[in-house]
Amino acid sequence: MGNEFVTCIFLLLLFLTLDPGVASNVLRLPSMNLVEQIEDDGHSSSHFHVDIVSLANYDPTFTVMKDIQVGKTIPVSFPYIKDLSPYQFLSREKTHHIPFSSKAISELHRFFSVFPGSKQAMEIEQTLKFCERDPPAGEATACLTSFESLTDYARGIIGSDSDIRIVRSSLISSSTPTLQNYTIMESKERLTGKVIPCHAEPYPYAVYYCHFQVNTDNKLFMVSLRGENGDWVDAVFLCHMDSSPWSVKSKALIRLGLKPGESEVCHFFPAYDLVVVPQ
Ligand SMILES: *[C@@H]1O[C@H](CO)[C@@H](O)[C@H](O)[C@H]1NC(C)=O
Repeated sequence: MGNEFVTCIFLLLLFLTLDPGVASNVLRLPSMNLVEQIEDDGHSSSHFHVDIVSLANYDPTFTVMKDIQVGKTIPVSFPYIKDLSPYQFLSREKTHHIPFSSKAISELHRFFSVFPGSKQAMEIEQTLKFCERDPPAGEATACLTSFESLTDYARGIIGSDSDIRIVRSSLISSSTPTLQNYTIMESKERLTGKVIPCHAEPYPYAVYYCHFQVNTDNKLFMVSLRGENGDWVDAVFLCHMDSSPWSVKSKALIRLGLKPGESEVCHFFPAYDLVVVPQ
């Protein structure tokens, strides 16, 4: 109780500093919403929803299209996460008052109760810096902090009157073994064209880095896999059809022993990442 009270007072003070314009209406405090949500989820001991370690360590298996023919076997590592709730977007109402900028780093340290220099603080800083860098050539990138901003971004690319859909891989059922051989049970091409891949970034609430490759076709498949341990995964599988603009030093090309442009490059998506497609 004492701690909560202190937190509330602190957040109120912080809020007054950050956004004096609406401070008169205490009910609209976004920080309160955040705290309530964290407490509802039973995460009151920590403000951190997103499992920074698993996000940082995940290394996708790169492959090519012919590897997902039905009946083939392929070693894949899907990271184990218990549930997706930390990776669900908050609404814009809950995030739009929270600054998302390296310039506000000291306020953010206080807001999320992290010590400057700690691992969490460094992850926050790295995510902000990553989000603030210039987009790679030929890509329209954005870091999105709410469901509404994802919708706006996707409609800007796919078309303002289009319906959009979010697809994700299903969760794996157990943490062992994450790397195993999976047999391809079914493989369905969903579409070729405007596919927007988005990757979860380490941050105290859901932040996705979405990148749309202008003038490049991506092909999206839904692949059903059966693991050696009996697990079934319905996985999102994306192929970048044109690797010619990629660097010879890119990890994917090196692993596959390919030169830029020699072949498409594909990978499975972990369940915490997502892909936005037209409905
Ligand atoms: C997958 O199967 C191949 C061929 O049987 C085997 O050499 C390899 O070690 C297996 N990989 C894993 C991760 O079990």
